[in-house]
Amino acid sequence: MSKPWNKLIVALDVTSEKKFKKIVAQLSPKVKCFKIGLIAYTRFGPKIIREVKRRGGKVFLDFKLYDIPNTMVETAKAFVDLGVWAFTVHLKAGEAALKYLKREVRKQAKHKKKKAPLIIGVTELTSKKASLSQVLKLAKVAKRSGVDGVVCSVWEAKKIKQKFGLKTITPGIRVRKTGDDQRRVATVKEALQNKVDYFVVGRPIVAKKNYLQAARELI
Ligand code: C5P
Repeated sequence: MSKPWNKLIVALDVTSEKKFKKIVAQLSPKVKCFKIGLIAYTRFGPKIIREVKRRGGKVFLDFKLYDIPNTMVETAKAFVDLGVWAFTVHLKAGEAALKYLKREVRKQAKHKKKKAPLIIGVTELTSKKASLSQVLKLAKVAKRSGVDGVVCSVWEAKKIKQKFGLKTITPGIRVRKTGDDQRRVATVKEALQNKVDYFVVGRPIVAKKNYLQAARELI
């Protein structure tokens, strides 16, 4: 029973700081990792990273960097300083830029005596239809660049693991069809059957009244 809990990453996509704190308080330490994206970070800033860490949680920073190499590197150096567990970057940024990013992140971590965060490459967004070959093509870029893992849907995770041995993080987790913006969706059971390393859940938990109960029901 503990395994799915260790794989669950809760996406803190909320617009109220009070709610943010309440979710983290209620789900810690059962949930070990929280995803912070632009929705919450833009409103509340770096203090919410400290809030998750204060409760013992790991932070998965999901800003999906996609820019010129210098801009990505300077931004990622701040991620190192903030002590996040992992952060995302678009694989469409390309192999050369990603290799450079990886090198600079390592350097910064060494310089600051911090653990280097994992670099996680976004393949195709789970809100879009995408073929397996499209996703594999980007996963190959991840492998070649030395990126640590990828964001993909449950339906590509097994193949990526077999072919490239990369960590897989899969959003688009739903109990049933909801008619929202996600397209390449799957259940927790399907995620586990497909041997994903982590699965990300946002609204099916954070849009409910009792977050812990919602997480329990989902799992
Ligand atoms: O609310 P929901 O469970 O759909 O949340 C999924 C989270 O994962 C969102 O924060 C979304 O930005 C993120 N994500 C995604 N698809 C990707 C990469 C990240 O849904 N390919």
